[in-house]
Amino acid sequence: MQLVTTIQEVRDIVKQWKKEDLTVGFVPTMGYLHEGHASLMKEARKRDDKVVVSVFVNPMQFGPSEDLDSYPRDINADSKLCEEMGVDLIFHPEPSEMYHDDFCSFTDINGLSNHLCGLSRPIHFRGVCTVLNKLFNIVMPDRAYFGQKDAQQAAIVKQFVKDLNLPLEIVRCPIIREADGLAKSSRNTYLSAEERKAALILSKAIFLGQELVEKGETSAKKVTDQMTDLIKTEPLADIEYVTAVNGLTMEEVDEIKDPTLVAIAVRIGKTRLIDNFVVEK
Ligand code: PAF
Repeated sequence: MQLVTTIQEVRDIVKQWKKEDLTVGFVPTMGYLHEGHASLMKEARKRDDKVVVSVFVNPMQFGPSEDLDSYPRDINADSKLCEEMGVDLIFHPEPSEMYHDDFCSFTDINGLSNHLCGLSRPIHFRGVCTVLNKLFNIVMPDRAYFGQKDAQQAAIVKQFVKDLNLPLEIVRCPIIREADGLAKSSRNTYLSAEERKAALILSKAIFLGQELVEKGETSAKKVTDQMTDLIKTEPLADIEYVTAVNGLTMEEVDEIKDPTLVAIAVRIGKTRLIDNFVVEK
């Protein structure tokens, strides 16, 4: 496995692979890798000849009052996990390698980004799309792998790849959970022991919603109301949203039917956590 920090090095390596007719799978990350990321690497390893992981905490997707500086970083642990997962190349650039001083071009998306997380994080998805557009142009992957935990991000990326005719396939992989249910996230490391316990209310609400839908409930209001009531029993939980949206457009729906995304964002102390389930009948 190689670790490189410049765009040119990635281009040179990938160019050689393409000459040999090898396919390239790409897992974009902000590092502090966990089993959720490992599951994406595993899927990429299964489907593609070569696997590239980027580790880059992208300043452009953080709002002014967000956790850019405190976002956890550990490139040594990340390299170890990538090595174990059979990754071929890590791209770990400095911000100055990705954004030169006079950088002024952006990739933005309408509609899809004006719901759910986009409401409280207005510049977030523009930052995500911009860095991914750049990374796709640098790595030139055949496939890029995204976790379903960030369901809105995955839907947005799929849309902009389609709109801009980018020649790659977006593969979505299931949410990976801790043994007790909490969805894996690099931000879980912010939680104190007490908050970690309280954070379980997210997965409990998700499992409750899933159970209601499995039993035949189709009213979005009834499902999200019961999930909301459950989350409110946890004193440390502060709800940002509990909602059911169309899985393609991200617009709110009244009736739960294929494809509906039931998504939640909840603050536990200062840590903002998200979780969701998808209804595909
Ligand atoms: O999901 C993430 O970790 C980031 O949003 C991504 C896709 C790596 C872009 O910076």
